Formats: sequence, C-alpha cells, structure tokens
Amino acid sequence: MELTSIKLVTIFLLIFSCCIHLSLASGLHFLIPHNEARAKVGVQPLTWNKTLAAYARGYALQRLGDCNLEHSKGPFGENLAEGYGYQFSAVDAVNLWVGEKQHYDYESNSCVGGACLHYTQVVWRDSIHLGCARVRCHNDWRFVICSYDPPGNYLGQRPY
Ligand SMILES: *[C@@H]1O[C@H](CO)[C@@H](O)[C@H](O)[C@H]1NC(C)=O
Repeated sequence: MELTSIKLVTIFLLIFSCCIHLSLASGLHFLIPHNEARAKVGVQPLTWNKTLAAYARGYALQRLGDCNLEHSKGPFGENLAEGYGYQFSAVDAVNLWVGEKQHYDYESNSCVGGACLHYTQVVWRDSIHLGCARVRCHNDWRFVICSYDPPGNYLGQRPY
C-alpha cells in the first residue's frame, strides 16, 4: 500500500517535472529568436511569462477548427503566423516576423515595400513580457500566436 503510493507520487513528480521542463523548453524556442532580433537594435530582452503563454494557448485552442489568422482582440500586443505541417516550428514563425525588418524604414518610421508591424512588435522597446503558443489545427496547419505586454506599435512612436 505504502509502496504503491510512493510509486504514484514518483510517477506524478516525473510527469510534472517533464512537463514544466517541456513548457520552458518550448518557450525558449520563441524567446531566443525574439531576443536576438532585439539585441541587434540594442533593445533589452523580453522575459517569458506564463500568464501570457496561457492566454496565447487559450486563444490558439479557439482557432483549432478554422485556423484563421484572426486576432484575439485582447489587451496584449499580438503576432500571428501559420504554416502547413509539423515542420512549421516556433522559430520559423518568429523568423517570418523578423524577416519584415527589411521593410522597416527607421527614418520615416514606416513600412516601405511590404509589411513590417510584426517586426516592430518583436523589437518594441517598452514590451517586457512574452508568451506564445503553437497548436496543430484540424486541417494540419500550425497556428502560432505570441502575446506581448505592454503592447507595441503605438502610432507616432518608434520601436527603439
Ligand atoms: C506576466 O505578465 C502579466 C501581464 O503583463 C503581468 O501582470 C505579470 O506581472 C507578469 N508576471 C511576471 C512573473 O512577470
């Protein structure tokens, strides 16, 4: 009887530690490329935030059925991306956003020749907290969302 409960506790602890580790590890896949892009323009790193990660996951789960690139209209800054199949990774999503850097013109503080507002959110100086999620939609696309607080992209302000 006692042995069984010790085993159960051990199994529970193993499962628990595995999943905390996994959630931190998957967070790093989002966090590291964000902070690389920020360092390149001299902006302080973001920190991983469980509240935002839970928010992002909650919203991503609502999109499982259609996988539409629709914003959550929540209180946070938000970047969305999607790609087909399991190959579309967290890093791929962040790379899509950071790839818009070529369209951001610092002088005029505007996008030139393409979209750039995902990039400006990634490097927004006043954003501190980051939480993201990646889910598999029913059509086998991967839906990716990152939430930022405080939000970026205020009109008339520069990201850095
Ligand atoms: C996580 O982010 C929320 C929303 O910005 C904030 O209220 C909270 O203090 C953050 N948690 C930590 C541990 O920084």
